[in-house]
Amino acid sequence: MKLVFEKSSSGRGMKLLEACDVPGTELLGIHKRSSSPRLPQMSENEISRHYTELAKGAHGVNDGFYPLGSCTMKYNPKVNEKAASLKGFTGIHPLQPEHTVQGALEVLKLAEEYLCEITGMDAMSFQPAAGAHGEFTGLLLIKAYHTARKDEKRKKIIVPDSAHGTNPASAAMCGYDVVSIPSREDGCVDLDQLKAAVGEDTAGLMLTNPNTVGLFDKNILEITKIVHQAGGLCYYDGANLNAVMGIVRPGDMGFDVIHLNLHKTFSTPHGGGGPGSGPVGCKEFLKRYLPGAGIERLESYHLTAHEASIGAVKMFYGNFLVVVRALAYILTLGREGIPEASSNAVLNANYMKVKLSDIYKMAYEETCMHEFVMTLEGLKHDIGVSAMDIAKSLLDYGIHPPTMYFPLIVHEALMVEPTETESRETLDEAIAVFRKIYEEALKDPQRLHGAPYDTPIGRPDEVTAARKPVLKYDFGGAVKPNTP
Ligand SMILES: Cc1ncc(COP(=O)(O)O)c(C=O)c1O
Repeated sequence: MKLVFEKSSSGRGMKLLEACDVPGTELLGIHKRSSSPRLPQMSENEISRHYTELAKGAHGVNDGFYPLGSCTMKYNPKVNEKAASLKGFTGIHPLQPEHTVQGALEVLKLAEEYLCEITGMDAMSFQPAAGAHGEFTGLLLIKAYHTARKDEKRKKIIVPDSAHGTNPASAAMCGYDVVSIPSREDGCVDLDQLKAAVGEDTAGLMLTNPNTVGLFDKNILEITKIVHQAGGLCYYDGANLNAVMGIVRPGDMGFDVIHLNLHKTFSTPHGGGGPGSGPVGCKEFLKRYLPGAGIERLESYHLTAHEASIGAVKMFYGNFLVVVRALAYILTLGREGIPEASSNAVLNANYMKVKLSDIYKMAYEETCMHEFVMTLEGLKHDIGVSAMDIAKSLLDYGIHPPTMYFPLIVHEALMVEPTETESRETLDEAIAVFRKIYEEALKDPQRLHGAPYDTPIGRPDEVTAARKPVLKYDFGGAVKPNTP
């Protein structure tokens, strides 16, 4: 497919910008560019076709089933998009006087209150822009807490080996030493390993529950107790909250700090690098360290500074429109709809798991939560068909592949998260496809190594695509691709 610059033709174009409704200002010479930007010149219909063609080359939740485990690629109701596109929300500026943005402050306050109720926390900051950013922020709260108590020997964060890769990375970014503890055979935390790992140098534990293999750790109260008794704090990676929202609360499990992925659980499309939100919630005793301003409800809404804030981790209130979507989602689902969504997510995952487990080997036999993990190790050993081959074949049937090769503790892993927004018919169709591919694998393993056959591109070199992306157009050599 050609790039916009290759489709551009000099003199073509259109005017899209609305007339300016504020007085113009003369820019200082230093801010003026010396030459015109090299924008592509295209007519409206060409642009429209260009982007439609691009969209057709990708797979989104609007195209079909998207069971990308751990990512919760669920359908986001359009009404929440509508709420986020209201002019009153899109046309405001964070530096406006408080009395002119009372509605926006109310959104932030209500979202904070509802999310605190759902998670069992006491306060929340919406500044972090993503899950990993929330982890980093939450760990800074833990660090600020120990520092304020002059307990600076606490330099270690314990992370089970089943954790999402961002957990140890965030801990390292905060200057902590990461202590990885091996999980038990069933994927849950090994209490003996945990007891052996905690000590006077433990700053905290990071855990997601249900964990990354889709299992709820039933020892959770014991786990958080062990860490607290050693003087550490407990951090909950809430990226898997879709399995338990409205049913159990991290605050009641004993966690002190959490982050949520609003862009997974609370109705913001993600996966394409768009704005996300990883709000950090905490118990009362950590509230004073939160980043950004708090919001107080008196006769009207007021911004208040947190006494011992760790400082800003992003400007103003984070990605505000993602919070609008989350609030609209919570209000439309309500007290009954929220737990029902989670229950259906768990039901759908177990339905698929049971219907596939006679042919696909499950990494863990027990009832799962919102996702399950298969291991293709046996198939790879017997006939050479890998998790990658099965995943790529699904593309030919209009299904996005599950997460591959994660979690790392499962070999040849395929992690399936159907989500609650898929109907029984969609699940049945997907189950039939999985079964058909399995039969094909037995009959003609060689063919699967070449899949997909019906997509615009086959198997890209994923390492080069991730490590050396070509993100700039080379205007006949004027800009070197790959230069930052
Ligand atoms: C368990 C878990 N933790 C953390 C993250 C990181 O979230 P983000 O990609 O928004 O940084 C993810 C992302 O999918 C996740 O699944």
